[in-house]
Amino acid sequence: DWILHNDEFIREEELNISKEDRGYQFGDGIYEVIRVYEGNLFTAEEHIDRFYESAEKIKVIIPYTKDVFHKLMYDLVEMNEIENGQVYVQLTRGAYTRQHQFPSDTAPVLIAYPKKLERPLELMETGVHAKFIEDIRWLRCDIKSLNLLGNILAKQEAYEAGCFEAILHRGEVVTEGSSSNMYGLKNGVLYTHPASNLILNGITRRVILNLCADLGIEVQELAFTKTQALEMDEFFMSSTTTEVMPIVQIDGQQIGEGVPGELTRKLQEAFEANLK
Ligand code: PDD
Repeated sequence: DWILHNDEFIREEELNISKEDRGYQFGDGIYEVIRVYEGNLFTAEEHIDRFYESAEKIKVIIPYTKDVFHKLMYDLVEMNEIENGQVYVQLTRGAYTRQHQFPSDTAPVLIAYPKKLERPLELMETGVHAKFIEDIRWLRCDIKSLNLLGNILAKQEAYEAGCFEAILHRGEVVTEGSSSNMYGLKNGVLYTHPASNLILNGITRRVILNLCADLGIEVQELAFTKTQALEMDEFFMSSTTTEVMPIVQIDGQQIGEGVPGELTRKLQEAFEANLK
C-alpha cells in the first residue's frame, strides 16, 4: 500500500515517525476521515475545508494549497485502487525536543492512508443500540483534534454494555455521539444540537440537513435533553462511516416502535441516492 507522507508517496516500511512527534506525545494535531464510494472521494471539498479550519484553530499551517491537497488525496485513492473505503488523514505540529509550548522551527507532519470498507448495510436495516454517557470532553469539540480520550473512553463503555455508540450528554443536554452526531424526530420535526463549540459539525450532518430541506422535513437545530431523547418518535446517528444509522434502543429503552422509523428510512434512501 502507498502512504502519503507530507507530499511524498512512500511504502509503509519506509515510514519514519519521530519519537518526539507532538502528535504522539501531546495529541497535538488534527485529522479527517473521508469516505470513498466507487473510487470517488465523497464530499471531499467539505472535509478539506474543515481540515484547514481545524488546522487554523490549533495554529498549524498546512504547507499546501487546498487544490494540491485535494489532488494528493485523489492520487492516494487511485494508487491504492480503492473502490469503496475511506481515507484517514492526520497532521501534527511536528517533532521537537519535548516541551509544551510551540517550538519555533518545526515542520508539520502529514500522514494519509486509505482502507477498504463496505457500507454497514445490515446495521442500517436493523438499527443499533446506544448508551447515555456523560460528556467529559473539553470545550472545543468543534476542532477535529487527535485528542480523543474523552471519546474513546465513552465508546469503550458503550461497547462493554453491548451498545454500538455512546450518546454523550452534558448534564441533561444531549450533545453528540462519541464519533457521530445525534438526531431525534418528534411529530415530523428533526432536532439536533446546534453546531457550537460542544459538537463536531459533521459533514454527514450537513448533507442530512440539506436532504431534510429537499424532503420538506422541518429542522430545529436545538439541544434536547436525555428525557426528550427517550420520548422521540425516531432517533438516529450519523458519521462518514455509518451514514444515517437508526438507533432503536437507548439504555435498554425502546425508541418509538423499536425499529428504524419512517423518516429515518426516507433519509437513508435520499442519502443513498445522493451518492450517485
Ligand atoms: N468521526 N462527532 C464526532 C465526535 C466525530 O468524531 C465524528 C466523525 C462526527 C461526524 O462527522 P462526519 O459526519 O464529518 O464524519 C461527529 C470520524 C468518522 C472518526 O473519528 O472516525
